[in-house]
Amino acid sequence: MTVITCIDDLKRLYKSRVPRMFYDYAESGSYTEQTFRDNSSDFSKLRLRQKVAVDMTGRSTKTQMAGQDVSMPVALAPVGLTGMQCANGEMKAAAAAKDFGVPFTLSTMSICSLEDIAAHTKAPFWFQLYVMKDEDFLAAVLERAKAAGVTTLVLTLDLQILGQRHKDLKNNLSAPPRLSIKNMINIATKPRWAMGMLGTKRHSFGNIVGHAKGVGDMSSLMSWTAEQFDPQLDWEKIAKIRDQWGGKLILKGINDPEDAKRAADFGADAIIVSNHGGRQLDGALSSIRMLPSVLRAVNDQVEVHLDSGIRSGQDVLKALSLGAKSTYIGRSFIYGLGAMGQAGVTTALEVIRKELDITMALCGEKSVQNLGRHNLFIPRDFEGDFL
Ligand code: GLV
Repeated sequence: MTVITCIDDLKRLYKSRVPRMFYDYAESGSYTEQTFRDNSSDFSKLRLRQKVAVDMTGRSTKTQMAGQDVSMPVALAPVGLTGMQCANGEMKAAAAAKDFGVPFTLSTMSICSLEDIAAHTKAPFWFQLYVMKDEDFLAAVLERAKAAGVTTLVLTLDLQILGQRHKDLKNNLSAPPRLSIKNMINIATKPRWAMGMLGTKRHSFGNIVGHAKGVGDMSSLMSWTAEQFDPQLDWEKIAKIRDQWGGKLILKGINDPEDAKRAADFGADAIIVSNHGGRQLDGALSSIRMLPSVLRAVNDQVEVHLDSGIRSGQDVLKALSLGAKSTYIGRSFIYGLGAMGQAGVTTALEVIRKELDITMALCGEKSVQNLGRHNLFIPRDFEGDFL
């Protein structure tokens, strides 16, 4: 029995329990995967300042994200095909997030639908939107989100066209998986996964199948994006969606100070500094290195969150110390889900909270809200001042 002490332990278990094509889907970046790797490794360039002889009782990781109380500043990021990593995966992750007191964000490209999450968790959740060309679908999905009790819309801006991930093409990724000889041999070695999948009817894109028209291959993420996503998305269209939605709006996928300023002027409730976990523009700067210039550009005009590369509570602490109000984890909770279902997501959250709390204490801080640049050593060239 493996004793789980860090996110990497969950990752090892996940790798052994989930079919290769879904592991590869989660564990890929686009093209050379340089940005995917940098997102995590750049955190290790930031070092922490040790503080001693400070009363460390009464610590708290509580704060707010976009006006919502959270037990720690770590939301579950939207991840496509989560219900292929584990049967009913989105329902399990949403339930774990609810019990832990952090937001769960349902992806447009999820397997469980908006209605499934509403029925299963009976808690408000967040919904990530991809903008489709089909305006009827767009209007209907916003109405469905409202009816499901979604409080906050997370609009993704960096994926109107899909970055190429070599492994997904080579694996012929689909949901449900094609029953090729290669896949069947691989699935035969993943009995937990297979038994789970036999026990649910949710095997395809639940928000889309039966709701959208005009897609060639219903099971392929590649087909959906190429045929349905609106390549004309611009600030005018974003404004239209804001008006249609009428609720809280977070803009995700900002990785540039000028875009950040534009988003702040636009009046978003928060922005997420993100490069989509290195899955879109390979060669982009990691989000942790981009964060300082984004913060300078928006100058407190908008709440700034960060995702891409967080694999520990220490990473969370570094992002907060550099100035982010909050963070998101994607792969870190997917490892837990694939390894151990809902309990694995809870374990991932517990691991991260413990690491955050202990590190905060050793840095001489009692509240995540007091973290700042004073807790860090930042290398001179960290902010990407390239000539
Ligand atoms: C979808 O969001 C993906 O990155 O695959």
